[in-house]
Amino acid sequence: MPKLIVVNREGEERAVDGDNGLSVMEIVRDNGFDELLALCGGCCSCATCHVYIDPAFADKLPAMSEDENDLLDSSDHRNEQSRLSCQIMISDDLDGLRVTIAPED
Ligand code: FES
Repeated sequence: MPKLIVVNREGEERAVDGDNGLSVMEIVRDNGFDELLALCGGCCSCATCHVYIDPAFADKLPAMSEDENDLLDSSDHRNEQSRLSCQIMISDDLDGLRVTIAPED
């Protein structure tokens, strides 16, 4: 089962397990990180699941859709590592992925 390393807004990190096929958002939320609001439930329409992805995994991630790109543009905290965590499905390829929950907009 792939592991995900989650860093919260306090800078504390914790490793959690994620079933293949779940989104990073679902894994983070289901492990009690309440600060990831994920208000739209994963429909790519809210941007409250914004995370920063470890650059070491950048080339293993799915390409960003136009919708995701537009939503991220609405964040004051976007940077080159920004992704919406509901748009990234976990897989063995992403084992050990480190994500940091972005500041609230
Ligand atoms: S949960 Fe709303 S965009 Fe990801």
